[in-house]
Amino acid sequence: MKVLVIGGGAREHALCRSFSLDPDVTALHCAPGNAGIAEVAELHQVDALDGAAVAALAGELAADLVVVGPEAPLVVGVADAVRAAGIPCFGPSKEAAQLEGSKAFAKDVMAAAGVPTARSYVCTTPEEIDTALDAFGAPYVVKDDGLAAGKGVVVTGDLEEARAHALSCDRVVIEEYLDGPEVSLFAITDGTTVLPLTPAQDFKRALDGDEGPNTGGMGAYSPLPWADPKLVDEVMATVLQPTVDELRRRGTPFSGLLYAGLAITSRGVRVIEFNARFGDPETQVVLARLKTPLARVLLHAANGTLDSEPPLNWRDDAAVTVVVAAHNYPGAPRTGDPIEGLDEVAAEDAPHAYVLHAGTRRDGDAIVSAGGRVLSVTATGKDLAEARERAYAAVARIRLDGSQHRTDIALKAAGE
Ligand code: AMP
Ligand code: GLY
Repeated sequence: MKVLVIGGGAREHALCRSFSLDPDVTALHCAPGNAGIAEVAELHQVDALDGAAVAALAGELAADLVVVGPEAPLVVGVADAVRAAGIPCFGPSKEAAQLEGSKAFAKDVMAAAGVPTARSYVCTTPEEIDTALDAFGAPYVVKDDGLAAGKGVVVTGDLEEARAHALSCDRVVIEEYLDGPEVSLFAITDGTTVLPLTPAQDFKRALDGDEGPNTGGMGAYSPLPWADPKLVDEVMATVLQPTVDELRRRGTPFSGLLYAGLAITSRGVRVIEFNARFGDPETQVVLARLKTPLARVLLHAANGTLDSEPPLNWRDDAAVTVVVAAHNYPGAPRTGDPIEGLDEVAAEDAPHAYVLHAGTRRDGDAIVSAGGRVLSVTATGKDLAEARERAYAAVARIRLDGSQHRTDIALKAAGE
């Protein structure tokens, strides 16, 4: 099978790494990719937001499967363009991707499907904003309706900060604060059959101890030793299957990766958000634990034949990933700084720990930073403590001027 992956983050590097180890994959292409993906896939330059260009590239490469990684191409309909060209594509249609593209749309689907989520108001005027903030009280949860790369959400006890963020959005969702640990659960679906992956936990705040601003994610781990073993079954029954059924009922079936961001509250599981693609950095730890070769499963999802797939197999190993971010992330990150120590990780820490590139590019002989989240170091071990130790040992070898990372990824869950 010839596979083309669209995107160029650590999530796409994790996907490409899995495909490069997959006996069903005979050729692997990625566009636009990054300096790390270039080591396992042939890179192509394409505007990932241009559906016609992506479909044309897939046609030239005679791709048997296109996997669209990030949300931005999905919400503009790149998967539709690929499918219209007769090429199987893993990723939802433009309409179904609204589940991530519009928080108001997601709330509407959840209400119709009876999926538990935070109570919310959708506001467009200052009066509506004040009424909603007043109705819920502090802590305030204020979400830009549209895509904002994980940075459109403000959770704050400060009424003025909440109001200022709300007023800066064209349309804003203001909702009830959900208390309790967060879990990310992914499911592969063809629009009818739903195949859950294994839960992971992401660390969204920039700084240790969950301080600082929200980011796209600073680290993740799996499994979750503290979680109820029935969690996956419960989320399948109350969240994933009803959401997939509701979108099919509306005539806009969701085929691709359905990402449920959940809060485990004292009153039960609640959806914080849906995404329409693999999460980053959770994918790095989920795929590190997946035993079943992935390409065939994604092809079945793309072709509407997922019911022929048996449940997925998982390793007993634990996995931890730590994101190394550029100076000043998540503000305006500094780019162009040389990254050193990558060869040392490959020589000293493989195969238990490895680097997945995100914002990197080759500059002559050097590899330099090219984005906010620069790379993520992923490690496996017999338990979270060992995986953590290996991940941080590898992080310590990486030298990037001004870089930052959290030191407490999986710390509590490892029982340390
Ligand atoms: P989202 O983009 O919706 O995932 O929001 C980003 C982060 O904001 C989440 O991972 C949570 O940490 C936090 N958050 C979002 N909604 C809520 C909520 N209703 N209650 C508490 N925290 C929230
Ligand atoms: N890790 C959060 C996300 O992928 O949106």
